[in-house]
Amino acid sequence: MALKDKYADRIQHHLSKYPETRSAVMPLLYIAQEEYGYINDEGVAEVAEILDMDPTQVRSIAGFYTMYSEKPKGKYWLQVCTDLACALNGADQFHKDLKEYLGVEEAGTSEDGLFTVEHVMCLAACDKAPMLQCNFHYMENLDMEKMKAWIEEKRAEYQAELDKANQ
Ligand code: FES
Repeated sequence: MALKDKYADRIQHHLSKYPETRSAVMPLLYIAQEEYGYINDEGVAEVAEILDMDPTQVRSIAGFYTMYSEKPKGKYWLQVCTDLACALNGADQFHKDLKEYLGVEEAGTSEDGLFTVEHVMCLAACDKAPMLQCNFHYMENLDMEKMKAWIEEKRAEYQAELDKANQ
């Protein structure tokens, strides 16, 4: 399903915040990245069409900012803070356990294509360690029990989507 249909409400919400529709390019690129796991040609073309922009302009904006990935990643991009304050509260072990649970190396993606794990520097939520951002949404005060439950929930959702699509 196209982004403009699948995320109609979210897109409308962002468009309504700006006098110029093209100003919504960054939040719409987030949506595209969330949907496809990275900024791909399809996402760029869809965002450009929604905003009535040239795809080359959209691509150049995506290329300029480090928060957009132009390489394939899992549907859920898990960026674990392992900076000092978090490390003192167990973030290193949490990061290691998370990679082990998903069977990935650093910056690797799980076999089901759903989860990419990497470590990042301080995300300014130092009192909530271990914490990570998933597609730029914070998940805080984590432990592996919470993470396993969340991962299995996302896997079940994904399987349900696949089952629905195959009906
Ligand atoms: S050190 Fe992890 S959020 Fe600041």
